[in-house]
Amino acid sequence: MSKIIVAIDGYSSCGKSTLAKALALRMGYAYIDSGAMYRCVTLYALKTGIIKDKKFEPEEIIHSLPKIHISFQFNTHTKSNDAFLNGENVEKQIRTLEVAALVSKVSSIKEVRTHMAAIQRKLGKDKGIVMDGRDIGSHIFPSAELKIFMTADSDVRVQRRMDEMHSKGMHVERNEVKENLLQRDHDDTHRKENPLVKAKDAIVLDNSDLSREEQLEYVLKLISDLTLTKDSFV
Ligand code: DC
Repeated sequence: MSKIIVAIDGYSSCGKSTLAKALALRMGYAYIDSGAMYRCVTLYALKTGIIKDKKFEPEEIIHSLPKIHISFQFNTHTKSNDAFLNGENVEKQIRTLEVAALVSKVSSIKEVRTHMAAIQRKLGKDKGIVMDGRDIGSHIFPSAELKIFMTADSDVRVQRRMDEMHSKGMHVERNEVKENLLQRDHDDTHRKENPLVKAKDAIVLDNSDLSREEQLEYVLKLISDLTLTKDSFV
């Protein structure tokens, strides 16, 4: 039985990673958070002083790429992958508003995207993977067997992001979160290199009024429909 690639793209804080994680767990697949990779590059640039006063020279980030080693390790406690930057667990550090405020700009650098794309394709070469991001179905895996494009009402998304940050002990203001989220939506959809777009064959999932369980059931049904119409997948 052959494995598939599930590509989940969409706006910031739509619950892509929550759905992707649950789906990967259910299917016994690997879950890769491609946004975490761009966040790691941003964190590296902050830690090394390449980003100063919210400004940076793209060339300096490009030259650093060979020194940035990103990996993922399964955390049995959270039942999800933690991101590691040069051997250090940075799962919490990459989720700060400081990183969030800069990551869209860093991710718009063409060479950064090319570098990340090569790593992402390597991770998916044996299939059996759920990857979420902005360009997974449209660019990284255009032949993915299942492509989901997620969206949700912006106030619902702000609340979700605040809940996530509070659960990690981070205290943030609603207007700050909302501003960051709308700015990232704008940057991600307007950048030149592989902007966030719905792949032609992606299925739109607006989860504003859906529970986590409902979303998972919906996608599992899509996968079971695929197995009926195509090959048999695991
Ligand atoms: O999914 P996230 O919010 O953690 O992603 C952080 C940023 O990384 C997002 O604002 C845009 C960028 N990103 C991207 O450009 N392409 C991807 N495949 C994933 C994320």
